Amino acid sequence: MRIFVTGATGFVGSAVVEELINAGHQVIGLSRSDAGAKALIATGAEVHRGDLKDLESLRSGAAKSDGVIHTAFIHDFSKLAENCEIDRIAIEALGSELEGSDRPLIVTSATGLLAGGRLGIEDDAPASIIPRVASEEATFSVAKRGLRASVLRLPPSVHGDGDHGFVPLLIGIARQKGVSAHVGEGLNRWAAVHRLDAAHLYRLVVETGAAGVRYHAVAEEGVSFRDIAAVIGRRLNVPVVSLTPEEATNHFGWFAHFAALDNLTSSQRTRELTGWQPKQPGLIPDIDRPRYFET
Ligand SMILES: NC(=O)c1ccc[n+]([C@@H]2O[C@H](COP(=O)([O-])OP(=O)(O)OC[C@H]3O[C@@H](n4cnc5c(N)ncnc54)[C@H](OP(=O)(O)O)[C@@H]3O)[C@@H](O)[C@H]2O)c1
Repeated sequence: MRIFVTGATGFVGSAVVEELINAGHQVIGLSRSDAGAKALIATGAEVHRGDLKDLESLRSGAAKSDGVIHTAFIHDFSKLAENCEIDRIAIEALGSELEGSDRPLIVTSATGLLAGGRLGIEDDAPASIIPRVASEEATFSVAKRGLRASVLRLPPSVHGDGDHGFVPLLIGIARQKGVSAHVGEGLNRWAAVHRLDAAHLYRLVVETGAAGVRYHAVAEEGVSFRDIAAVIGRRLNVPVVSLTPEEATNHFGWFAHFAALDNLTSSQRTRELTGWQPKQPGLIPDIDRPRYFET
């Protein structure tokens, strides 16, 4: 297949590009910079210059393809609502180009949108009021128009070399504050996946995925936050401390919501539907390496 990948230069998207090319697919990677274009060419992908805000660039990329994997997102959390709206409009543009064909559209979402405190499953609609629900709403809106559109939810930690997500952020906070903290007993859990396992699932879904389905790229249903904080404390040689919710707001700032998130999530249905079997190291052994703690 010839697959248009948005976010092709990102942490997740670059793994998807590599996975697709290794499996014999052709990739058209979206890039908004010369540096990104150069990196894509080096992997064997074709470059499509454009931007999430340039809808014509998204439509023309999709027009050249047999399917689209959408992983691009503007990660400026100070403008989250605005960026989620940009994502909604981008998904609608990609969908409008693919409409009337059997070409798949796979949109990235997050298991963090599910109701916490119980095992989240693929059929669960997003419960969170976080504006990121816009990505799933847009996907199901275009799927209703007969498009083979589906959602692939990623857990709070997608880990592996090159990670610049939530675990590196926690390491940065612990380094700055001189303590590695968890909220209460730290028994809240984060689902997790290695980026290479996630990339493999994107490929399976673009090859065989059905319309209107939510897939979970979850290798581990729930790793306790206390275990994550313990690795960080030991590696940085700082105390591991328990905070009250009020103290956590002060300590973690905007990240306090995620530090307290209990995101136990199943991928049983995804595995049944696709045959996906994650093979890479789990979150704790993966982050318990010097590489995660290089400054
Ligand atoms: N990593 C995680 O732990 C995690 C967990 C849950 C969900 N997710 C979701 O997974 C997806 C991929 O995340 P990631 O970790 O790979 O993010 P990332 O490394 O920050 O990559 C983001 C990608 O989006 C592109 N992008 C940003 N602004 C753009 C714009 N205005 N126009 C076009 N492209 C733009 C970036 O291009 P440049 O290279 O040009 O900046 C990059 O390719 C996102 O939807 C993210 O929210 C990630």
